[in-house]
Parts: sequence; C-alpha cells; structure tokens
Amino acid sequence: MPKHIVRLIMSLGIVILLVIGSKALFTADSFGVYGHYRANAVPEIASDTPKYKGPDYCQLCHSERHATWSAHRHGKVKCEVCHGPAGEHPATGKLPIPSDTVKLCSTCHEAMPARPAAQPQIVVSQHSGTQACIACHNPHAPRIASSGGSDR
Ligand code: HEC
Ligand code: HEC
Ligand code: HEC
Ligand code: HEC
Repeated sequence: MPKHIVRLIMSLGIVILLVIGSKALFTADSFGVYGHYRANAVPEIASDTPKYKGPDYCQLCHSERHATWSAHRHGKVKCEVCHGPAGEHPATGKLPIPSDTVKLCSTCHEAMPARPAAQPQIVVSQHSGTQACIACHNPHAPRIASSGGSDR
C-alpha cells in the first residue's frame, strides 16, 4: 500500500479514537437511561420551587386588596405581573411596589395599532404626559369612579 494512504488511514483512526474517547469521557452518567436526554434533568426540574405563586397565594394574607382587585377589570392582570415573582415572599422580605407607573402601565396601555381593541388604549403623551398614572388611577381598581358609570 502506498505510504500516503497508510498515513491517511492512521490519522483517520486517531480521529475516530478521539471521538469515541471523548464521548465516553464527557457524556453525563444518566444520559440515555430513558431516551436521548439526561435522565437526571427530570428530578432536577421537578425539585425547583416555582417562582410565581399566583393570586390565590396572595389572597391568604392580602385578602382585602385581593377583593378590590378581583372585583375590577384588572382582575385579569395577575398580581405578580406588576409586583414581580413572589418566590419565598414574605420570608425573604417585601415585594417591590412598582415606582415608575408610566413605564409599567404603558407596557399594556400605550396605543398600538396591533393591540386588540378590547384592551383599553391611550396615547400617554396626550393623556397624562409624564404624570404618574397612580396620581389618578388606583392600580387595583383602575376605573376612576368619579368619571361616572359603574366602578367596573
Ligand atoms: C403568608 C402571608 C403573605 C402572602 C401569602 C403574601 N404576602 Fe405580601 N406581604 C406579607 C407581609 C407580612 C408583608 C409585609 C408587610 C409590612 O411589613 O408592612 C407583605 C408585603 C407585601 C408588599 C409590600 C407592601 C409595602 O407596603 O411595602 C407587597 C407589594 C406584597 N406583599 C405583595 C404580595 C403579593 C403580590 C403576593 C402574592 C404573590 C403576596 N404579597 C403574598 C405577607 C404575605
Ligand atoms: C396593574 C398593576 C398591579 C396589579 C395587577 C396589582 N398591583 Fe398591587 N400595586 C400596584 C401599584 C402601582 C402599587 C402602588 C400604589 C400606590 O403607591 O398608591 C401597588 C401597591 C400594592 C401594595 C402596597 C399598598 C400600600 O399602599 O402599601 C400591596 C400590598 C399590593 N399592591 C398587593 C397586590 C396584590 C395582592 C395584588 C393582586 C391581588 C396586586 N397588588 C395587583 C400595582 C399592581
Ligand atoms: C399586563 C398588562 C397591564 C398592565 C401592566 C396594566 N394594565 Fe390596565 N388593563 C389591562 C387590561 C387587559 C385591561 C382590560 C381588562 C378587561 O378587558 O376587562 C385593563 C384595564 C385598565 C383600565 C380600564 C378600567 C375600566 O374599568 O374601564 C384602566 C384605567 C387601566 N387598565 C389603567 C392601568 C394603570 C393605571 C396601570 C398601571 C398601574 C395599568 N393599567 C397596568 C392590562 C394591563
Ligand atoms: C390627571 C389624571 C390622570 C392621569 C395622571 C392618568 N389618567 Fe388615565 N384616565 C383619566 C381619566 C379621567 C380617564 C377616564 C375615566 C375612566 O375611565 O377612568 C382615564 C382613562 C384611562 C384609560 C381607559 C381608556 C378607555 O378607553 O377606556 C386607560 C387605559 C388609562 N386611563 C390609562 C392611564 C395610564 C396608563 C396612565 C399613566 C401613563 C394614566 N392613565 C394617567 C385620568 C388620568
């Protein structure tokens, strides 16, 4: 056999050995137990504590606010959308009270052609300028009662 073919086969052999070797070395232990994935990933994910608890959890301690909130149109916007994920609250401290309401509320209410018409929209610069939205609106019962109509 010509020399250069022998060298080619030898270097190919080295590459194959390297591939087999690194596969044995770097594949996680539980890979392939159930299928083409790392079996230990399943209990790892299952043991994670959820960061978002949902409004029913808040009701346990903030029942009055929960009652106001659920009776109004923001009852569809979950508490943690505005206050952030509860995690281990209250053990880990208070949840933040959003301070920049112009930014927070505009995320959902700034008028955009692509938004569903059912979602109330305003042009913030014409509606209230740079004023904080909570100067006039209660975030948990956003309709301004004095403007007439029902409080819903
Ligand atoms: C086990 C009772 C408990 C649960 C459940 C609970 N909280 Fe609290 N929360 C507290 C306590 C206690 C405080 C601290 C009150 C204080 O020091 O004035 C607090 C404070 C807060 C504050 C800050 C109030 C302030 O004046 O600074 C916010 C906002 C808040 N909670 C939101 C939530 C939300 C949203 C949920 C649901 C995801 C929730 N909490 C669930 C007990 C609870
Ligand atoms: C649309 C956003 C939004 C949602 C939804 C929302 N909040 Fe709030 N929350 C705010 C804002 C903004 C403030 C600050 C109000 C202020 O300073 O007058 C606040 C204030 C609070 C406070 C502190 C009140 C105080 O005066 O000390 C608590 C507690 C609280 N919210 C709990 C809740 C709970 C519980 C829910 C769900 C049942 C909820 N929030 C839903 C925006 C929201
Ligand atoms: C995550 C999106 C979201 C955020 C953030 C949000 N809203 Fe809303 N808001 C909604 C939706 C959705 C509705 C309409 C719910 C429905 O269809 O009944 C609504 C309704 C309203 C209404 C109409 C109430 C009525 O009864 O006609 C006002 C006013 C309002 N929001 C003000 C605010 C203010 C002020 C803030 C900030 C403190 C805020 N929103 C933050 C989604 C949001
Ligand atoms: C100076 C007072 C004032 C401020 C500040 C203010 N609003 Fe309003 N807003 C009103 C009044 C009055 C209405 C009409 C009465 C009602 O439906 O609550 C209204 C209505 C709305 C509506 C309902 C529109 C509709 O078509 O049904 C939305 C949404 C809204 N405001 C969002 C906001 C947001 C977001 C901010 C902050 C960027 C804000 N508002 C700041 C006074 C104010």
